[in-house]
Parts: sequence; C-alpha cells; structure tokens
Amino acid sequence: MLLEVQAVARAFAQGGRRIPVLEQVSLELAAGQRLTITGRSGSGKSTLLNLMAGLDLPDAGRIIWQVAGRSWNLAELDETTRTAFRRRHLGFVFQFFNLVPTLTALENVALLAELNGLDDPFGRARWRLQRLGLGDREDAFPDTLSGGEQQRVAIARALVHEPAVILADEPTGNLDRETGDAVFAQLLEVLAEEDRALVLVTHDPELAAGGDAELALGRTP
Ligand SMILES: Nc1ncnc2c1ncn2[C@@H]1O[C@H](COP(=O)(O)OP(=O)(O)OP(=O)(O)O)[C@@H](O)[C@H]1O
Ligand SMILES: [Mg+2]
Repeated sequence: MLLEVQAVARAFAQGGRRIPVLEQVSLELAAGQRLTITGRSGSGKSTLLNLMAGLDLPDAGRIIWQVAGRSWNLAELDETTRTAFRRRHLGFVFQFFNLVPTLTALENVALLAELNGLDDPFGRARWRLQRLGLGDREDAFPDTLSGGEQQRVAIARALVHEPAVILADEPTGNLDRETGDAVFAQLLEVLAEEDRALVLVTHDPELAAGGDAELALGRTP
C-alpha cells in the first residue's frame, strides 16, 4: 500500500475541554488510486489531510507511507525528516491556489524542483505548464491570471517534483462550475497517465463520485 492510516485519533483543546475530531480513522490508498474524503464543515477533513502530510501528529494511531522503496511512519519521525519527506514525495493543491505573488508562473512551478535538487528545474516547470495548456503564460505573475489559470499553475507546481500522490483540499472550491470541472478533468488526466494517486477533499458530490474509495467523516452525531 502507498498509504496506510491505522486507527488514528486527534483531539483539540477548546474552552478547556478536549474535543475529539478524528476517532479510530483507518484507510488505505494504493498507488495510482483516488481516495475522496467528504463530510460537513468541521468534520475533520483538513485535519486528516494535515496528518497525512505530517504537518500535524496524531494522538494515537499510525500513518505509514511506502514511497520509493522505503517506509515512512510519520508519527515516529522528527519534524525535519517529515518536512523532507513531504517536500520530496507529496504534492499539494489548495482551494485558494497559494501561488507566490512575486514569482512568475514558471518560477512558482520550478521552485520545488529546485528545492529538491532535481536537474533542470526550469525545463521541468516549462514542460508541466505546457502540458496544462499554459505554455504561453509562463512569464505571467499570478495576479494577472484567471482563477482557473492560477489553479492550473498550482497543479503544475504540485507535480513538478514527480510526487507519488497529490493531496488536494477543495481544489475547485473557488472556481465556477465549468472552470472547476475543466481543471479537475485535466488533473485527473495527468494523474492517470502518470499513475499518481490523489487524496481529494471535497463537498462536491459530483467530484466525490468516481473515486476508487470514499471516506465520509463525521457521520455520527
Ligand atoms: N489547530 C487546531 N486547534 C484547535 N482546533 C482545531 C485545530 N484544527 C482544527 N480544529 C478544529 O477541528 C475541527 C475540524 O476542523 P477541520 O479544519 O479539519 O474541518 P474540515 O472538515 O476541514 O472543515 P471545512 O469543510 O470547513 O474545511 C474544527 O472544529 C476545528 O475548529
Ligand atoms: Mg477544511
């Protein structure tokens, strides 16, 4: 398995009490598969994604990635190692794009390839942008791009270091239906061609349908 989440729990302190957000959450994700996480606002979707990314640690349970012939048990790794793992093996797409405003599209995309010490970061970035139909916008700054274009730059950025998996939190939540559908279709096409996995958080039943597995959080009152 690419990812195994085993009996994970996470609670947060609120007004002097500890409120459980995730209890006994388990799931598996195989290479190249799509897992969808749904649930109402506050049900713990982003919390779970943060745990998968090693940005936060569970109170109990295990989160184990198997990437590049190695096993990474996030709860047992220090922050420096978790950061190195995340930077090298995971890609992220966020609702609000999160591009660096002072960098061009090309520079935004190349950044992670450079940080990972990969050869020819700008060549990789150029190819990624071309593949997403943005070859003619590589010198554009984010604020001169439409929302759909910005999200395609963000997708190129998430893929430039060839991660095993993309973690996406409401990736089309800030786009109109038509643009969102087009961007999502492009993302799925690239992932399928390259056999990369996707963990998708979404409120959108149409996007949630069609994955290989769905985890619905917070069903119990
Ligand atoms: N660092 C934190 N400290 C305290 N409480 C937190 C923290 N992170 C999350 N929570 C709480 O945990 C619950 C779940 O939050 P989370 O962001 O995971 O929800 P979500 O399912 O992603 O919601 P949304 O659909 O609105 O994005 C919320 O009640 C939130 O206030
Ligand atoms: Mg969230």
